[in-house]
Amino acid sequence: MSSTTPSVTLDYQPEVIDAQLDAGNDIYCRNMDIDQKLLDSVKGFLDEDEGRCLYEMALQAGRMGPCLEIGSYCGKSTLYLGAACRKSCSILFSIDHHRGSEEQQPGEEYFEPGLFDPQSGHLDTFREFRKTIASAGLEDTVVPIVCRSEVAARRWATPLSLVFIDGGHALETVFTDYNVWVGHIVSGGYLLVHDIFADPARGGQAPFQIYNLALASGLFREVDTVKTLGVLQRRPGAEMPAILANI
Ligand SMILES: C[S@@+](CC[C@H](N)C(=O)[O-])C[C@H]1O[C@@H](n2cnc3c(N)ncnc32)[C@H](O)[C@@H]1O
Repeated sequence: MSSTTPSVTLDYQPEVIDAQLDAGNDIYCRNMDIDQKLLDSVKGFLDEDEGRCLYEMALQAGRMGPCLEIGSYCGKSTLYLGAACRKSCSILFSIDHHRGSEEQQPGEEYFEPGLFDPQSGHLDTFREFRKTIASAGLEDTVVPIVCRSEVAARRWATPLSLVFIDGGHALETVFTDYNVWVGHIVSGGYLLVHDIFADPARGGQAPFQIYNLALASGLFREVDTVKTLGVLQRRPGAEMPAILANI
């Protein structure tokens, strides 16, 4: 490590933080260097505990290389990942075509009328996303990539320390995201998958299936599960099959 690189200490101490939060202190968010008001104002689907876990994992991963998320939406997960990347002097690639997933389209359960652009006749979350990143001062840390995930992956050649999959939730889409990105995760790096529901009555099964596929591959070990967020780590020494090592 060069002498100009600040050393990073992990400041995630759940007991201390819980006690401070109980005392009405927002120390946790100050430790994460994220404005709580901004977090609260950004539309999104991420639970606060899941966000903290994203932050913690990106803080660890950031020291090994760049992080990447699939599914930025309005930037809620980006705030957590980006703040950790900034702190660890890393960078976050944030991919989204910004046209919304199936369930966010007009007439569907998660449609947000305010995000619909009548001129183009499409959902457009990019404007909100840019606003979020600018408000958080993350423009020098987050690299937005506006296209389908598999397009961004076509000529990708940068090893990644963390991949967070939270894009489309149809099986084909999550399966594609897994297939095109997993081969870029460095040994000891992390794969995080959102919206894992073991019980089909609680939610769609595609992310859970992919999570299980990753485990069954033998490439990853389970690190943690925080609510619906699954955290896996690539086993050091686990050989990436040629079909996934798509560099
Ligand atoms: C569940 S939202 C992401 C939520 C976000 N992580 C948060 O914390 O609020 C899913 C996003 O994935 C994007 N998406 C869906 N399929 C995609 C694909 N194939 N490539 C890129 N983005 C995709 C949608 O446009 C949508 O914004």
